[in-house]
Parts: sequence; C-alpha cells; structure tokens
Amino acid sequence: MAATSLTAPPSFSGLRRISPKLDAAAVSSHQSFFHRVNSSTRLVSSSSSSHRSPRGVVAMAGSGKFFVGGNWKCNGTKDSIAKLISDLNSATLEADVDVVVSPPFVYIDQVKSSLTDRIDISGQNSWVGKGGAFTGEISVEQLKDLGCKWVILGHSERRHVIGEKDEFIGKKAAYALSEGLGVIACIGEKLEEREAGKTFDVCFAQLKAFADAVPSWDNIVVAYEPVWAIGTGKVASPQQAQEVHVAVRGWLKKNVSEEVASKTRIIYGGSVNGGNSAELAKEEDIDGFLVGGASLKGPEFATIVNSVTSKKVAA
Ligand code: PGA
Repeated sequence: MAATSLTAPPSFSGLRRISPKLDAAAVSSHQSFFHRVNSSTRLVSSSSSSHRSPRGVVAMAGSGKFFVGGNWKCNGTKDSIAKLISDLNSATLEADVDVVVSPPFVYIDQVKSSLTDRIDISGQNSWVGKGGAFTGEISVEQLKDLGCKWVILGHSERRHVIGEKDEFIGKKAAYALSEGLGVIACIGEKLEEREAGKTFDVCFAQLKAFADAVPSWDNIVVAYEPVWAIGTGKVASPQQAQEVHVAVRGWLKKNVSEEVASKTRIIYGGSVNGGNSAELAKEEDIDGFLVGGASLKGPEFATIVNSVTSKKVAA
C-alpha cells in the first residue's frame, strides 16, 4: 500500500491523533488483527496528560523520545569509518531524538574516541553472561568498558543466520540489562510467516521470550524488523508497520503493563532510508528506526534522524 494512498486528512483530538486511514485499512483487510488485538490496544486518551510531549509532537501513541539507531553490521574499514564519523560529527541532528550507532566490535574504540558525544554507541551482540572462556564472544562488561550504552539483541541475522533461539536471546537481554546496558530488542517475522498469517504469533512469541526473562522494561527499545524487509529494499508500508507496532504495544499493555506499553519505544527497521523515513515516522506508533544500509551514509542517516519533524504539527 503506497503512502500516497492516504487521502483522509488526520484529525486531532488533543494530542491523540485519530487515524482514519489505519482503521479503514484494518477493517477491510486485517480483520484477524482485530480478533487478535482488541480495541483496548488504543492506549492514549486525549485527556491523559502523562502522554503529552513537551516538544509538541502529536503523532505519537507512546510517550518515549524518538529513537534512531544505525546498525553498521559487518561493514567498514578504519578509513571508511573515519569518513562516516566525520560526516556524523558535522551533521545537524534534531535535539529531541536519541541517536545511537552500532559499529562492528573492532571499531568501537575508534568510534568512541572520535564520534560526537551527541551519539551513543551500541554493540551488535553480547555474550549471555559474564565473560570468560568463550572464544569469539564479546561480553557486556567489555562493551561497557569501551563506552557502549546499548546492545542490539535478537537481530534477525543472529536468529536466522547464526541460529540464536528466543530463550537464549531473552537471557542475553536479562544479563545486559542487569549490567546497565540498554537493549534494542529485535523481533520480526519471515516472509513465509507473514504469508501464512503468522506475523503476530511470531512477534508475540519473540516478545514473550524477552518478557519472560527481563525484570524491567525501563531500558528496552523494541525494534520491529520484518525479515523480508531487511536489506531487501522492500520497506514495509507505513500501514503495515503501524499495524504491527499497534499490536506490539497492545501485547505489552496486556502482558506487562499499560505504563510499559506507553513508555516503551517501538522502532521500525527494514530498508528504511532518507526517502521513506518521513512517511513512516508519521505513523503514531512508530517511535523511531533501526537502520542498516542507509546508516552507512552520514547525511542520509541524519535525514532519517531528522524525520522526527514529520511527527510534529505543521505550523
Ligand atoms: P536495512 O537493515 O536497513 O539494511 O534493511 C535494517 C537492520 O537490519 O537493522
């Protein structure tokens, strides 16, 4: 569904945007969604001052700050990373966004020593417990020692290429949180799972594995990354992403708490780029992005960070 098909003008009720386009689309083509996730998933009432954002953002169902992560994956050299850092250091970034980059482990020190403090650093993975005799692994303690604030866990490439299982990923998250790292907790369905109507089953099972393991959601950002959209150039439509984000927030409300559902950032990943981020960011349950390929280009990554402005009311 193309973003240009959105014809109904948004109407606003206080800070809570009513989204006729989603409801219409959902009623016509996603009835199972409503069977699975009832209307109680709509969390934010216009009278709830706790959800009011100090920055005048209206298209936001959650109360957390916009969050954009750049996952550099297994890319880069000392030279290319020096150039990327220089571009990031000279970029103008909107103030009201948490910005994080996740370099390959071996370049974290280089990044930490030359990147602006405006941008935090994440590991791309971490060992499930304290370091020791685990050849080839990197511990949470080591990530902290290098100045990382975050770690990405459960990325689809770890799940489906390396073979990490839900329960193991949940344990990793619990350990990282216990040591004070924030966790970017990735979930997402494969194409065949989507086509079999199992998108919510898969995402909820992955969420449950995190929920069963972690004592608190205070330091977790959920990244919904449909596997079919990662690195393929096939970005989810704003409506497809929004639909799952609503469901994830609903799951958190039902299974954790209303407060966690509201506070937890739910970010989208999968072929996000400088050309599609603004339309995606307009969706009220999309609280930011996890960006792969486009995060390797400083100016484009800055454009994605600055797509937060599309959440704000036009003057
Ligand atoms: P992509 O990767 O933006 O290159 O699709 C996203 C991710 O894997 O986090």
